[in-house]
Amino acid sequence: MPGSSESRYFPDSNRIQPEKIVGIMKDKIVLNGGQRLEGEIPISGSKNSALPILAATLLGQGDQHLTNVPALGDVETMVRLLRHLGVRLTYEAGGLTVNASTLTGHDAPEEMVKTMRASVLVLGPLLSRLGEARVPLPGGCAIGARPIQLHLMGLEQMGCEILIKCSMIHIRSRQHRLQGARIRLDHPTVTGTENLMMAATLAEGTTVIHQAAREPEVVDLARFLKARGGRIHGEGTDVLTIEGVSSLRPAAYNIMPDRIEAGTYAIAGAITQGDLMISPCNPEQLDPVVGKLRSAGLDIREEDHGIRVRARRRVESVDIRTLPYPEFPTDMQAQMMALMSLGTGCSTMTETIFENRFNHVPELHRMGADIVVNGPAAVVRGVRRLRGAPVMAADLRGSACLVLAGLAAEGKTTVHRIDHLDRGYESIELKLQKVGAHIERIRGET
Ligand code: EPZ
Repeated sequence: MPGSSESRYFPDSNRIQPEKIVGIMKDKIVLNGGQRLEGEIPISGSKNSALPILAATLLGQGDQHLTNVPALGDVETMVRLLRHLGVRLTYEAGGLTVNASTLTGHDAPEEMVKTMRASVLVLGPLLSRLGEARVPLPGGCAIGARPIQLHLMGLEQMGCEILIKCSMIHIRSRQHRLQGARIRLDHPTVTGTENLMMAATLAEGTTVIHQAAREPEVVDLARFLKARGGRIHGEGTDVLTIEGVSSLRPAAYNIMPDRIEAGTYAIAGAITQGDLMISPCNPEQLDPVVGKLRSAGLDIREEDHGIRVRARRRVESVDIRTLPYPEFPTDMQAQMMALMSLGTGCSTMTETIFENRFNHVPELHRMGADIVVNGPAAVVRGVRRLRGAPVMAADLRGSACLVLAGLAAEGKTTVHRIDHLDRGYESIELKLQKVGAHIERIRGET
């Protein structure tokens, strides 16, 4: 079954236990490139579904059973944050039992928000449940300023007063319950839509969100809330309607497979001219990525709850423009750039979502890539081969890009700062070893 609660290939003993993931700052990954990858790659639960769904457990009482929860650094950070707020969470085989019946606070600590911006996802649920929340302004990160004014404007319309002092956001509901409102976002925001949807679930009256984000992870959150009695309509479209209810019941829920992880391994198959079966995944959620890979000459078929990717020759260069779902995802831009670095021609890659999401370019230059960045666009002239080199990751998807380039490069590549990688890819070196990659994790000095 797609999204099974257990990884089909990796008994728990092989996986890096979640409690140990956060803070592996000195580990590095060493690859010797040139192997064609062949075989099956199991896809874990979606990071960007698991994070809002974990935050949504704050909205009610009783035991909630989440399965297919990925063992990731960011999930571990969210678990620590929820425990700090009084939520009881216990890991069991492949899943989590979460009980938020008794909350002990409404403050998200600075170091957790700094570690993971997605901590702001507790704002909506805390306001809905407790009527108050204090969260440090998340600030920017390697890929951009990442403001949250759209989240705050929507909460203000739902009856909140917001005080920002010394980079702390203190929000209080003016009335006992948040009030339904008609909110028009300036443009789609994924976690903004998720925050407001969670805030509206227990609000008084109906909330309509225009220009809502349409990402599959927003839909997965809506499905989780509906499984608990939430009244939500329009998920997956740009108009979300949420009728407030007085309470939510506990539920069991299986996190959907990670479409960005699946897309990343599809490119691993392409860049090594291999033959990979990638499942479980929902091919429809990958349409824009699969469409571009097919235009680049790859043979991609939908099979057995996943996709099979075969490449027999050097990829052709294609142009990419990142846009909100259902267009090409910004979270696949860096991985696609690794592939286009070996294309037959010239590819223009335009990043429209984040203002600084080309940190991987200088590192690809060290490997022999020919890329020129000009504002939001990068022009990638394909070269015949990349050379292995020591490289440094600066963000999650940029680190995946460097691993992909290392799989194809001649010689040895060492990727440093793979704590970025561990935030969003579960057991990446184990999954790649199983399909023939010469890759290993070197533990840093503790
Ligand atoms: C989510 O981030 C994802 N993270 C990101 O994935 C993903 O890249 C992004 O959506 C876009 O798809 C999670 O779901 C945890 P946004 P989010 O709000 O919600 C601007 C990964 O690699 N904006 O949709 O923070 C913002 O600066 C991560 O897994 C405002 O201006 O992104 C950006 O330019 C990286 N004001 C654009 O909107 C706001 O109030 C889209 O951001 C909010 C956002």
